[in-house]
Amino acid sequence: MKFTNSLVFSGLLASASAVPIATGPSGKWFDRFVVIVMENTNKATALADPYYRQLADSGVLLNGYQGTTHPSQPNYITMIASTTAAGVFDDGDHNTTQNSLVDIFEPAGISWKAYQEGYYPLDGGACNPIHQNKTSGYVRKHNPFMSFDNIRENISRCQNIVNAQEHFAADVAKGKYAPQYMFYTPTLANDAHDTNVTYTETDLKYLINTMMGNEQFMKNTLILVTFDENDVYSPDSYGTSNDVYSVLLGKDVLSCTGCIDQQFYNHFTQLTTLEQNWNLTNIPNPDGDGAMWDSWMLPFSKLKAKHH
Ligand SMILES: *[C@@H]1O[C@H](CO)[C@@H](O)[C@H](O)[C@H]1NC(C)=O
Ligand SMILES: *[C@@H]1O[C@H](CO)[C@@H](O)[C@H](O)[C@H]1NC(C)=O
Ligand SMILES: *[C@@H]1O[C@H](CO)[C@@H](O)[C@H](O)[C@H]1NC(C)=O
Ligand SMILES: *[C@@H]1O[C@H](CO)[C@@H](O)[C@H](O)[C@H]1NC(C)=O
Ligand SMILES: *[C@@H]1O[C@H](CO)[C@@H](O)[C@H](O)[C@H]1NC(C)=O
Repeated sequence: MKFTNSLVFSGLLASASAVPIATGPSGKWFDRFVVIVMENTNKATALADPYYRQLADSGVLLNGYQGTTHPSQPNYITMIASTTAAGVFDDGDHNTTQNSLVDIFEPAGISWKAYQEGYYPLDGGACNPIHQNKTSGYVRKHNPFMSFDNIRENISRCQNIVNAQEHFAADVAKGKYAPQYMFYTPTLANDAHDTNVTYTETDLKYLINTMMGNEQFMKNTLILVTFDENDVYSPDSYGTSNDVYSVLLGKDVLSCTGCIDQQFYNHFTQLTTLEQNWNLTNIPNPDGDGAMWDSWMLPFSKLKAKHH
């Protein structure tokens, strides 16, 4: 019966390749989410840059998107956890017993990876809790996964936090077998923290082109390019709202391109969107009681439901 089975199997493969799907669970709107996080820039400044403008014109400009807080680190935390988890309220090194997206992804079979430019894991892929690497431009405060005890102390989870330069393009080249959730942190130079958006164009273009050039990878993929917070420390930002440039890309999954979405969003919206996309529960064990941010925010509105 082996012969018959293999015919059935290749038949399934043939129909699967006609309608390519990611290897994990299929989502309501998308099968893969990529977030690239830039730093400390006012929305108007980013929009004045020709490349960032071009990206906005080819996707959805989220005109009502704000950073959740100041300074940097808690903004990153709020992209993967439903609270400013357990005291990660400043840029210092903090350990938390709270849960994150990883705790709802793994039971659902959703693969994830964090790509950190300039990050070098310890032997065997163990987490390197180093505060910063001055040579490479890596900082822990831009790597939210490192704050969670149940990630940092678990080597199999640590193996999903990788050096971006070594792994990102290689994983994108896997096409539909690339991770379903990809979190990308550039170095302090490539994210505009120590430079400006003009400088960051080179690295960002490379990342976007690497993805866009791979049709299999882009199938049902949603990309978010965002900034952690506005340039609060510059005089023209004092007392203003934390407006940041945020753009969604991915023609398979957006209901319009070159369009503007005025709805209010913040970094917690990523959680809400991911949870609703894959029909996940809210993240359990937030600090405080009851419902948290991931149940309060609305998901991104300009996504189109897939046809099954
Ligand atoms: C965080 O936990 C690590 C072990 O995973 C430990 O080495 C480090 O001292 C802790 N840091 C803080 C700030 O508690
Ligand atoms: C810091 O980065 C350099 C490369 O820029 C690397 O050779 C070195 O091993 C890194 N150090 C640590 C402690 O990760
Ligand atoms: C470590 O992570 C793996 C993979 O996520 C998980 O299967 C395992 O249960 C975790 N181990 C502990 C001790 O939590
Ligand atoms: C960014 O910095 C470079 C030099 O460091 C400068 O030439 C350029 O004008 C700056 N761009 C913006 C938008 O400020
Ligand atoms: C979503 O999950 C809930 C609870 O686990 C389940 O009852 C429901 O059928 C699921 N919906 C879809 C569309 O899969």
